[in-house]
Amino acid sequence: MNTTESERIRVQNILDAGKSIESRRKLGQFSTPYDLAEEIVRYGLEVYGGDRKDLCFLDPAIGTGAFFSALINNTEYSKAVGFEIDPHYGLPAADMWKDTNLKLFIEDFLSHSPTDEKYDFVICNPPCVRHHDIPAELKVKLCREIKERLGIVPSGLSGLYSHYVMAVDPWLKKDAVSGWLIPSEFMDVGYGKALKQYLLNKVDLIRIHRYDPNDLQFSDALVSSSVVWFKKSTPTEQDVLFTFGGTLSSPAYSKRIEKAALFDEAKWTRFPMNSVRARKSGPVLSDYFRVTRGVATGDNKFFIIDGVRIKDLGLPMDCFVPILPSPKKIKGDIVNRKDNGCPDTEDPQFLLNCELGLEEIRARYPCLWDYLKAGEGSTASRYLCSKRDIWYRQEKREPAPILYTYMTRTDGEKENNKARFILNRSSAIATNSFHLLYPTEQFYAKFGNDPRNIELAWKYLSNLSSEQICGEGRVYGGGLHKVEPRELSNVDVSGIEEYILCAHREEFSKDTLSAFRFIEAGAAQRTRSVSE
Ligand SMILES: C[S@@+](CC[C@H](N)C(=O)[O-])C[C@H]1O[C@@H](n2cnc3c(N)ncnc32)[C@H](O)[C@@H]1O
Repeated sequence: MNTTESERIRVQNILDAGKSIESRRKLGQFSTPYDLAEEIVRYGLEVYGGDRKDLCFLDPAIGTGAFFSALINNTEYSKAVGFEIDPHYGLPAADMWKDTNLKLFIEDFLSHSPTDEKYDFVICNPPCVRHHDIPAELKVKLCREIKERLGIVPSGLSGLYSHYVMAVDPWLKKDAVSGWLIPSEFMDVGYGKALKQYLLNKVDLIRIHRYDPNDLQFSDALVSSSVVWFKKSTPTEQDVLFTFGGTLSSPAYSKRIEKAALFDEAKWTRFPMNSVRARKSGPVLSDYFRVTRGVATGDNKFFIIDGVRIKDLGLPMDCFVPILPSPKKIKGDIVNRKDNGCPDTEDPQFLLNCELGLEEIRARYPCLWDYLKAGEGSTASRYLCSKRDIWYRQEKREPAPILYTYMTRTDGEKENNKARFILNRSSAIATNSFHLLYPTEQFYAKFGNDPRNIELAWKYLSNLSSEQICGEGRVYGGGLHKVEPRELSNVDVSGIEEYILCAHREEFSKDTLSAFRFIEAGAAQRTRSVSE
């Protein structure tokens, strides 16, 4: 690393320390580590290929100039331009680079109309500002401009980075090479659709390299990042190179994916680890189970209480329903029931679930009235509670026979932290730490009313591999997987019918374990102990 770069890093650290993390978050001010910036610029130069003397570089969110620094350390160039909205970073950067011919505008790039000057090498780590932190007028303006220029309608839920990629389009020369260090989430979520449309229809997508979320590139922002490479030219039919892990020049995994397959695939993070999936023809989970989130209470500490406390406070038990503890506290994959229907777990918990109005509560249950009054100053004003007609009224949920713990770490060491299907034999409902699976009419029509079929279905689901399930979900930084109800609903369960029917053929009432032999020996990729 040369002295200029060491100096830039020193200044960057001082500038970062001079701002609070909250204010840096508002403008997405998390700089690119130099090694990463350099490998990105080097790879971009390989793709660029042309005569570097003519190269016109643009970083529309330049910060102190990590990419510019890497550029001048690796190539000659003709012109370089950067935009930085915040003088806190922009002024020291302008001073630092004053002896180069970088033109640094301390301006809001997004309010700058595209000029006639265009660029053929654009590298950027754009501000990753969450959609709720983007001012409403800016969001409307960006969506309108993108629609007018590209005919693409971005979702209002898109993060700023996604608008940024598309806002830069008019600044690109024909055949420009562009590389974007952005969160990987756009590849899997609904609001990533507009950016994917852009990459497939408006430019020639070349490569997406996804850094391994377990190997965080950013110390101060928990994001799993990818570098997306494209050329500003009419889309070709060239395959797109998907790589994962390691570095850009030496990825741990790689696979070329036909562009046509990307139009059909909603979850691009399945590549390169998985192949293009065959079009689903068999049943998906929602054919047999309705999947819904558990109860969002608005304040678990207030609404969920243990039996001893209910007694101590003199609260009426008939205003409470049993509720499962958090997934971490559930040992094993089966929740048995006690005689009273409560879950056979340590320290059973109950959810306050009262439909009555306050006046009626006051007359019938004065202790409960006192309890609710105490919550009026705090819990009642919380977001969810304040949106309800009666702030303490909970969403209706029936006990679900199967639950899924949907948020999990792929690198989870503790068994209880892993995603799993739980068989619930109790009458407890569950919070939104779980997804709830209720058998559909079609389930009963196909398999009949024998309650053992639910247990067989649970066993079948438990034996699905995490790829079969998480291929539908999304990966966050730190190896965190999150599967939404919609995604779980879409999991392929084409083997469930054979599994259940085969178990019956094997007379599972006589010898339950033998009925499961075939699956435990074969398709089972996740081993679960059959604890009963
Ligand atoms: C993720 S940082 C990247 C900084 C630098 N390029 C790097 O890679 O280290 C994004 C930068 O964009 C700046 N920024 C945010 N919104 C901007 C805007 N509308 N116009 C120009 N710069 C902006 C932020 O202040 C921040 O310095």
